[in-house]
Amino acid sequence: MIIAVDGPAASGKGTIAKALSRHYGLPHLDTGLLYRAVGIATVRMGGNPDDPGDAFKATGFHDALLDDPELRSEAAGGYASQVSVHPEVRSALLARQRQFATQPGGAILDGRDIGTVIAPDADAKLFVTARPDVRADRRHRDAMGIDYATILADIQERDARDSARSAAPLVRAADADLLDTSDLTIDAAVQRAIALVDARTRDSL
Ligand code: CDP
Repeated sequence: MIIAVDGPAASGKGTIAKALSRHYGLPHLDTGLLYRAVGIATVRMGGNPDDPGDAFKATGFHDALLDDPELRSEAAGGYASQVSVHPEVRSALLARQRQFATQPGGAILDGRDIGTVIAPDADAKLFVTARPDVRADRRHRDAMGIDYATILADIQERDARDSARSAAPLVRAADADLLDTSDLTIDAAVQRAIALVDARTRDSL
């Protein structure tokens, strides 16, 4: 069984994907980490994340980088959003994600284009979202020392860039179930996600 979880920043998609991974006993890939690694590697090489050539060179990053805590920073999220615009970067990361998705036994991937590009035949697709003010509030609680207005502006800028780009933009797949977590606790959102996946996979049996 393949489960695709997509959605904007701080929508809750990562938390939901991890909980689904435990519930169904499936391996999970946070694809945002791959773009974050490319973003950080670009900057560390002295490159510009807006430059397609610089960003492409960084797609050969070492896997050890995926464990670097700096990948979780707000700055890394911004660089990721910049490098993920370039089609050459997206295609360099494609095979790795497809392989993970199609491994025997199934998998869960979360990102922006899992249901549309990486695993269009996924058995269940969730598009997880929440209002921008709620998402900024969540990030504000996690990110010490950055003010709320800066975080909200960053989220809005990232939403706009991710949705407007021509290569694999952030859009809900036609067959994805919408899950708005704005007014849900984590537990309630996870229960709802499990119910949606169960309903989809029952249908496909
Ligand atoms: O949860 P958050 O948006 O903060 O971070 P993320 O999921 O790690 O994604 C960081 C950035 O990587 C996003 O803003 C997207 O621009 C990009 N990304 C993408 O283009 N495609 C994916 N499958 C995953 C992430």
